[in-house]
Amino acid sequence: MKEVVSVLLLVLIVSVSDAKVTKPSIENFVQCLHNRTRSENPINEALYTHDNSTFVSSYVSYTKNKRLSNPKDTKLIAIVAAKHESHAQATVVCAKSNSIQIRIRSGGHDYEGLSYISSVPFVILDMHDLRSITIDVSKKQAWVDAGATMGELYTKVSKASQTLAVVAGVCYTLGAGGHISGGGYGNLMRKYGISVDNVVDARVVDVNGKILTGATLGDDLLWAIKGGGGASFGVILSWKINLVDVPKTVTVFKVNKTLEQGATDVLYKWQLVSSKLPQELFPRAMPQHVNDATSSNKTIVVVFYAQFLGSAKDLMGIINKNLPELGLKREDCYEMSWLNTTTFWQDYPVGTSTSVLLERPSKPGAFFKSKSDYVKKPIPKEGMEKIWKIMLKSNHMFMQWNPYGGAMDKIESNATAFPHRKGNLFKIQYFALWEDANATDANLGLMKEVYSAMEPYVSSNPREAFLNYRDVDVGSNPSGKTNVEQAKIYGSKYFLGNLKRLMEVKAKYDPENFFTYEQSIPPIRAM
Ligand SMILES: Cc1cc2nc3c(=O)[nH]c(=O)nc-3n(C[C@H](O)[C@H](O)[C@H](O)COP(=O)(O)OP(=O)(O)OC[C@H]3O[C@@H](n4cnc5c(N)ncnc54)[C@H](O)[C@@H]3O)c2cc1C
Ligand SMILES: *[C@@H]1O[C@H](CO)[C@@H](O)[C@H](O)[C@H]1NC(C)=O
Ligand SMILES: *[C@@H]1O[C@H](CO)[C@@H](O)[C@H](O)[C@H]1NC(C)=O
Ligand SMILES: *[C@@H]1O[C@H](CO)[C@@H](O)[C@H](O)[C@H]1NC(C)=O
Ligand SMILES: *[C@@H]1O[C@H](CO)[C@@H](O)[C@H](O)[C@H]1NC(C)=O
Ligand SMILES: *[C@@H]1O[C@H](CO)[C@@H](O)[C@H](O)[C@H]1NC(C)=O
Ligand SMILES: *[C@@H]1O[C@H](CO)[C@@H](O)[C@H](O)[C@H]1NC(C)=O
Ligand SMILES: *[C@@H]1O[C@H](CO)[C@@H](O)[C@H](O)[C@H]1NC(C)=O
Repeated sequence: MKEVVSVLLLVLIVSVSDAKVTKPSIENFVQCLHNRTRSENPINEALYTHDNSTFVSSYVSYTKNKRLSNPKDTKLIAIVAAKHESHAQATVVCAKSNSIQIRIRSGGHDYEGLSYISSVPFVILDMHDLRSITIDVSKKQAWVDAGATMGELYTKVSKASQTLAVVAGVCYTLGAGGHISGGGYGNLMRKYGISVDNVVDARVVDVNGKILTGATLGDDLLWAIKGGGGASFGVILSWKINLVDVPKTVTVFKVNKTLEQGATDVLYKWQLVSSKLPQELFPRAMPQHVNDATSSNKTIVVVFYAQFLGSAKDLMGIINKNLPELGLKREDCYEMSWLNTTTFWQDYPVGTSTSVLLERPSKPGAFFKSKSDYVKKPIPKEGMEKIWKIMLKSNHMFMQWNPYGGAMDKIESNATAFPHRKGNLFKIQYFALWEDANATDANLGLMKEVYSAMEPYVSSNPREAFLNYRDVDVGSNPSGKTNVEQAKIYGSKYFLGNLKRLMEVKAKYDPENFFTYEQSIPPIRAM
C-alpha cells in the first residue's frame, strides 16, 4: 500500500509546472513596468529592448564566458538594468504577470551562462548598477549590494581598515549577488569558512515583489540563499556580512615545481599535510601544462601558492617543518597588505597597483569550461601520473587544488545550504580556457576525459559538485521545464542532505516556481 501511494505521489510531482509558456507580450510587460515604478526613479533609464542601439552592448558587457555569449542565439526580449530597488521589484511582478521568465545577473560570471541565456523568451534583470557598499568598522560589518564586485568591496573595506578583510573569492570581478549566494570560497576559508558563513542578513525581493529583510526575512529563507543559489528563491538586493580580522601584513608565496623537479612527489606530500596545517595558512596547488611557446619541452608544472596570516619567518618555519620537499626560500615570500594579496593571486607582478580591482569588463574574456570534485583520500601517485598524461594533450587546461580542514571541518554541513564540509582533504577545480572558437569541441572533450579518469579518486554516491563551479554536465533541465527527478540528480550533487530542506523552503516562498532556471531547486513539500 505504502508503495502504491509513493508511486502515485511520484507521478504527481514528476513535473512541476513552471510559469506558463505562452507568447509573452512585451508591450504589456513594459506598460506594467511603467505602472509599477515612479517618475523620480524612471524605468526608461534602466530598460533596454531590441529597439535600443545599446541593447547588444548592454547584453554582452556582463557575459563573462565567450562560449555562451551569442546575443543572436537567445530568446532575450528585454534587459532591465535596475537603477533603483523598485526596478527589481517591478521586473519580478511584471514578468510574472506576463508569464515571462527572468534571469538574474549580477557579475555575469556564471560558468554556464545561466544568468544570461535561456531557450524560452526571457528578460534579464541586471543588478550591476546597484553597487553601493557601506561599512561599519566598529561593528566589523558591511552592507554590500548585489551588483558590487569583490574588487570594489575589498578596496572599500581595506580603505576603512587595514586590519579587516572580506571572506570571498579570488577573482575581483565576481558579483556579490551570484558569488555569495553560491557559497563563495577563497583563501581565508581555512580560518573563517566561506562567504555564506559570514552572512548575517540580506535584502531579498520575493515572488510578490516584496522586500524581505531582518525580521521579515525568514531564517529558513536566509539559510537557503546561503549556498543554495539566490536565483531559485528571489532577487538578492544586498547582503549584510561580517568582516574578519587580518594582520596589517600577511605573507604570500608562489613556487613552481615541474615533473622533472619532482612535482608529483611534492604534490603527493601536499595531499597528506595541507588540510592539517595551521588554519592561518592556505596553500593552493595548481597543476598545469607548461604554456611556454619557446620551449619544445612539454611538461606539467605545479604552481604552489600560499597565503599566511602572519610573518614570512613564521611561514618558513611551518613549511620547512611540514613540507620541506617544496624547498621554500625566504626570497620566495612576500609580506604585504591583505589588499595587495588580491592582485598577487591574480598573477599580477608584486607591486601592481590595486586600482585594477576597480575595473569592470565591457565584453566577454575567453571561452571556458569548468568542473569540480571533492577529494577525501589521497590520490595515489599512479593516479596523478595518469592525469598528467591527459593534461599534456592540451595547453589550455589547468587545475586548482584547494585545501580543506580548519574552519571547514568545524562548521556543520547543515549550518548553511552549502554542504561540503568535514571529511574533505581538498576540492579540485578543473578549468579549460581558450581563445579560438574552433578549439571548443576539443576542450570540452578533454574536460570530459579528465573528469572520467578522476572518478576512482574522488567523492562518490553522489559525486559532489560545487554550485559556484556551475557545470550542466552534472544534470540540468531544459529552460522552462522543471523535471523533479532530474533536479534531484544535480541537486543531490550540489546540496547533498540539504536538498530536501531547500525544496521545502522553495515550496514555501515560491510554490508556483516562478524563479526557475536550468539548475533551479523545485518546490516540493516533505512527503
Ligand atoms: C574567473 C572566475 C573566478 C572565480 N573564482 C571563484 C572563487 O575564487 N571562489 C568561488 O566561490 N567562485 C569563483 N568563481 C565562480 C563564481 O563564484 C560564480 O560564477 C558566481 O555565480 C558568480 O557570481 P556573479 O554574480 O558574478 O555571476 P552571475 O552570472 O551574475 O550569477 C550567477 C548565478 O547567480 C544568480 N544570481 C546572480 N545575481 C543574483 C541576485 N542578485 N539574486 C539572485 N540570484 C542571483 C544568477 O541567476 C546565476 O544563477 C569564479 C568564476 C570566474 C569566472
Ligand atoms: C497600467 O495602469 C493603468 C491605469 O491604472 C491601467 O489601466 C492599465 O491596465 C495598467 N496596465 C498594466 C499593463 O498594468
Ligand atoms: C531605450 O530606448 C527607449 C526608447 O527610445 C528610451 O526611452 C530608453 O531610455 C532607452 N533605454 C536606455 C537604457 O537608454
Ligand atoms: C611558474 O609556472 C607558471 C605556469 O607555467 C609560469 O607562468 C611562471 O612564469 C612560472 N614561474 C617561474 C618563476 O618559473
Ligand atoms: C628542456 O629539456 C632539456 C633536457 O632535459 C633541458 O636541458 C632544458 O633545460 C629544458 N628546457 C626548458 C625550457 O625547460
Ligand atoms: C601595496 O602595493 C602598493 C602598490 O604597489 C605599494 O605602494 C604598497 O607599499 C603596498 N603596501 C603593502 C603594505 O604591501
Ligand atoms: C543540523 O542537524 C542537526 C542534527 O541532525 C540538528 O540538530 C540541527 O538542528 C540542524 N541544524 C539546522 C540549522 O538545520
Ligand atoms: C576556425 O575554423 C574556420 C572554419 O574551418 C576557419 O575559417 C578559421 O580560420 C578558423 N579560425 C582559427 C582562428 O583557426
